[in-house]
Amino acid sequence: MKRLKIFQSKQELREWRENLGGSLGFVPTMGALHAGHLSLAQKSLEQNTHTLFSIFVNPTQFGANEDFDKYPKTLDKDIQLAQSIGVDAIFAPNISEMYEDSDPITLNPPKLMGSVYEGSHREGHFAGVLQIVLKLLMLTQAKYAYFGRKDAQQLLLIQKMVKDFFIPTQIIPCPIVRDIDGLALSSRNIYLTQKERQDALQIPQTLQWIQESFLQGERDTHKLRTLALERLDKVKVDYLAFCDHSLQELPSILPSQTLVLLTAKVGNTRLLDNLWL
Ligand code: PAF
Repeated sequence: MKRLKIFQSKQELREWRENLGGSLGFVPTMGALHAGHLSLAQKSLEQNTHTLFSIFVNPTQFGANEDFDKYPKTLDKDIQLAQSIGVDAIFAPNISEMYEDSDPITLNPPKLMGSVYEGSHREGHFAGVLQIVLKLLMLTQAKYAYFGRKDAQQLLLIQKMVKDFFIPTQIIPCPIVRDIDGLALSSRNIYLTQKERQDALQIPQTLQWIQESFLQGERDTHKLRTLALERLDKVKVDYLAFCDHSLQELPSILPSQTLVLLTAKVGNTRLLDNLWL
């Protein structure tokens, strides 16, 4: 088994990167690794000679009233998990390593795709995500970078940034990984009490009902939305949207082009899930 390398500075990462032959696959994370993150790394291990995780809880993507301070940090366990599946290296910088300048250049997310859904519920979130992902892609110079479909809007915006800025990394979207009860894996699931977790199952169950209705021929999104909302009585829905990959609302489902986004609060925890039809 190869020995996992851990870099805290950009300099160490750059030196390792410069001497690397073959291809590098990159999996950016905020740590608290779970089977979803590991599935991204597995895909990278299959497709590349080297695989790198980054672990960095990025302050600029958290709003003032969000969970930056209490976001789970499990670095020792993350290192063990990464080592156990054969990942080559982890880049785990501190905040000052990634944000050196007090008056930095920032990015504006696109007006249409960046201002809806998570963009309207979490002001500044996508500016922070794009800023850190751009920095990480520049540093790692990876051939492929792996992102889960669970954060669907994030994935679409990163794909757009890579396209708009001619970034030579290919973004690989990967399937949502679920627990056996159906809940999409998320580092934030640990905030849920047992009762909240039970209530939260309405989210994947409703998406499954939408999928079954679609397979039986239903295409009317207004009707699906109305009936789906009736099923979501134990959670507080932020939005349930049927849209295309540019995040424009659709009156009727277009097969292979439709994204169903469902975000709801259970207790104090916001959970995101979705379905690609
Ligand atoms: O999805 C995440 O974990 C984060 O938004 C990312 C992409 C690692 C950027 O901080």
